[in-house]
Amino acid sequence: MDEYDRRHFIKTSIPGFLGISMALPAITAFATRANAYQGRLKADGSINWDAFLSAIEIEAKKQHLDSWNELEYVKQASAIAARLDLKDPSLAKAFKNVKEKGVGNGRVDFAPLEKQIDYHVTLVQFEKNEEILHHDHPEMTGVLLCATGEVEVWNYDLFAEKENKKDVLLKQTSHAMLAKGKVSTLTAKERNIHRVAAKEFTQLVDIFAPPYDKQRIADSTWYNVDPEGYKGKDKLFEATRI
Ligand SMILES: [Fe+2]
Repeated sequence: MDEYDRRHFIKTSIPGFLGISMALPAITAFATRANAYQGRLKADGSINWDAFLSAIEIEAKKQHLDSWNELEYVKQASAIAARLDLKDPSLAKAFKNVKEKGVGNGRVDFAPLEKQIDYHVTLVQFEKNEEILHHDHPEMTGVLLCATGEVEVWNYDLFAEKENKKDVLLKQTSHAMLAKGKVSTLTAKERNIHRVAAKEFTQLVDIFAPPYDKQRIADSTWYNVDPEGYKGKDKLFEATRI
């Protein structure tokens, strides 16, 4: 297990994962906002990039309210994401640009699409057989929209931890293919740990609310997971915090 996981972990190491702003210049410049009269809402119900950001912002701001409900937020954000027009010119330009710059570099690419205090939208790009191994998102929600290709996603909850805090049991709560136009979610308490693997070239639009900051980056944890089910139970896995 160690050799297999170590190889893949190195391929998608934390510097690669967190090097989002170093990897590419901000894509936000491409995202010239259409105004209210230029295609915010199409006949098929799809919404342009500007309308998408406006809608996400309204939902993400609710995190400051006492009544903030993460499950309700990811439900709303998923519905908004599912309506995003993936052919929006500004978004399509960002997809193309990241593809041109990232293909062949041997790692998963992260490019910021929008950075706000309450949320970030990041383009995550995988080449065939690239993956991001098991990791968590401390006190965060995530909404992942598959824009191109298809990825396999495993989600886990923290089930138990030993006194040493290093050895834990993870409970797998879902395992599914995420096809183009489909959305996967996680909250601070449910499905917060995941692994994402691409069988083909894939681009995801990830919405994080609240976004990564210094503390959340410091608190992020990677897990070395034993693929053998714990005591023969296929939904429980022994893991070590790295
Ligand atoms: Fe993640």
